[in-house]
Amino acid sequence: MSPFRITRTLPEDTTDAALRADVLAGLTGTPKTLPPKWFYDARGSELFDEITGLPEYYPTRAEREILLARAGDIAAATGARTLVELGSGSSEKTRHLLDELTHLRGYVPVDVSESALTRAGRALVAERPGLDVHALIADFTAALTLPDMPGPRLVAFLGGTVGNLLPAERTAFLASVRSVLAPGDALLLGTDLVKDEGVLVRAYDDAAGVTAAFNKNVLTVINRELGADFDPAAFDHVARWDPQREWIEMRLRSRGAQTVKIPALELAVDFAAGEELRTEVSAKFRRDGVAAELSAAGLRPAHWWTDTEDRFALSLSVAR
Ligand SMILES: C[S@@+](CC[C@H](N)C(=O)[O-])C[C@H]1O[C@@H](n2cnc3c(N)ncnc32)[C@H](O)[C@@H]1O
Repeated sequence: MSPFRITRTLPEDTTDAALRADVLAGLTGTPKTLPPKWFYDARGSELFDEITGLPEYYPTRAEREILLARAGDIAAATGARTLVELGSGSSEKTRHLLDELTHLRGYVPVDVSESALTRAGRALVAERPGLDVHALIADFTAALTLPDMPGPRLVAFLGGTVGNLLPAERTAFLASVRSVLAPGDALLLGTDLVKDEGVLVRAYDDAAGVTAAFNKNVLTVINRELGADFDPAAFDHVARWDPQREWIEMRLRSRGAQTVKIPALELAVDFAAGEELRTEVSAKFRRDGVAAELSAAGLRPAHWWTDTEDRFALSLSVAR
């Protein structure tokens, strides 16, 4: 069995400092916000995996359908020897790519969730002798430093996770991805598409309440890491479609007036009854918009594939 390596590109105290800075800025600002990356401790990663199997959560099934149909085309178009995957999570759908990328030497999953990387990486090296798996615990919104592995490189960013970045963050992110690609290397990007509001809202507000538990998990993370006294039961899960910005917002709405103490920040945060804390945006895309953003980053859109119901798109673009 080939070795599984895992590298933390940021020291642990940097992660702690980043959480403190994000919570301080986000909970003292108006409106209150938190970045979605803090959902993903071990429990958050498990809950996300559960979400991907929910009847209402179509993106995973739609993207899998495209990967199954197109992985051979992606392999032929890229000839990739190294696959880098940002926000790789369980690497579950990635297996369809790995099956077809016959020239592949190395796989570099990148995620903030150490538990998800460890579980996925160990399983992959056991399943695929000869595949070199070098996982990186890293924040993909920070400057990317990748291990020295042979080109051509294919960077995959699946699951529609790019929609969790705000427009200005997306611009910076795509420029950062372009900076780690050599001319001819490629980006495989999964984008969820604009569609019927009811379908979208249900995907983020399932009947079984798994997405609600995932949303509230960020409060548990802050309680554990910063000694806060959030009562998750004192907040309601909200999923709302913003038709102007074409994104879903996940929020936590305070059931009553309350004050939450966060001792590590020497902070007391007041919530009015009904006040909402935004925990995630999930932008939905149109083909022209994706192509324009890729082009602006120095990537040439080469392929656009959708599932049979036009719910989700995978695009392949090539570094100029
Ligand atoms: C929506 S899930 C998608 C997981 C998987 N790619 C899929 O398609 O099912 C987002 C993943 O990105 C990771 N993630 C979120 N924000 C991140 C960040 N800023 N840097 C690195 N990983 C991040 C999470 O831990 C999670 O595994």
